[in-house]
Amino acid sequence: MNNILLLASGGGSNVKAILNYFKDRNDVNFPMIITNNPEAGVIEIAKEYGVDVLLLNKHIFQEEIFIDTIDLYKPNLIVLAGFLWKIPDYMVKAYANKLINIHPALLPKYGGLGMYGHHVHEAVIAAKEKESGMTIHIVNEQYDEGTILLQKKVKIAKGETPETLAEKVLNLEHTWYPKVIDSLLPK
Ligand code: GAR
Repeated sequence: MNNILLLASGGGSNVKAILNYFKDRNDVNFPMIITNNPEAGVIEIAKEYGVDVLLLNKHIFQEEIFIDTIDLYKPNLIVLAGFLWKIPDYMVKAYANKLINIHPALLPKYGGLGMYGHHVHEAVIAAKEKESGMTIHIVNEQYDEGTILLQKKVKIAKGETPETLAEKVLNLEHTWYPKVIDSLLPK
């Protein structure tokens, strides 16, 4: 059995796409969705799919002892899907190469502290870029700097807004994130 731990802070559309992709697979289990945000839309999605939710306290997240809780779920993969807290070093070390993230731009551009969600798309439009996209990468100790696993591009249309760009990029994310996760599972 492959156990996948999901971490999310927001609306959870990627979590939904992932749960949906694996819903008929009996070799994949989602023991827990971890969120830092009691208002996160992902909590409703978890309910819909019958997955438990852990609401995370920042101080506990920073404590190395928290790895014992993570270990209990025996994750083969830890998947960040719009999770906005930096992953502490102890967790990166314990789950080296098993922690992945999705970012709504073509890294290394538009990454780093403060670059998340709509901030990214606003910066891309303000810089008059001709293209943007999404990046799926391994998480290391630096924000958005781990090995890139996959990038997909979208063209930026005339009159594109951060909202329309966000929608295009999310569509790409929903298509590719579940497939990349699947490809990383031991076969
Ligand atoms: C996604 O676009 C994801 O790439 C982005 O947050 C959004 C979450 O949407 N992640 C980051 O910006 C990480 N730096 P969702 O909650 O609907 O899946």
